[in-house]
Amino acid sequence: MITRRGLLVSLASGLAAIGLTGLGTQVANAAKTFTVCKTSAIPVKGGKTFSVGGNKVLITQPKKGSFRAYVAVCTHQGGALNGAENNEIACNLHGAKFDAATGMAKSVASRPLAKVAIAVSAGTVKVKF
Ligand code: FES
Repeated sequence: MITRRGLLVSLASGLAAIGLTGLGTQVANAAKTFTVCKTSAIPVKGGKTFSVGGNKVLITQPKKGSFRAYVAVCTHQGGALNGAENNEIACNLHGAKFDAATGMAKSVASRPLAKVAIAVSAGTVKVKF
């Protein structure tokens, strides 16, 4: 017969054996910072899409010196987003439109774009996943 204490010890050693004891810490440490481009590469009221760490990221500059980053995937049905003009991000698949400053859906799609952490320093745009 196995005791309750014995069962707990077995579970703990089993989790350790498969490497799950520090999983929360490993996930937290998995985020990486990527340098994307110079700020001058992003037009004011426009945006560009970049491949970053295996992901497509859309960087916008809704007003001079203010930058935003989104996952470049439409929340309607997963269409690719390839930039922004006049502070609007458009999906060519079915015509969804998103606000380039907030990522909020304006038409077709009902959910906002997923935001990506962004930092700007010394004229360089960086994102973190
Ligand atoms: S997938 Fe973008 S509008 Fe449908």
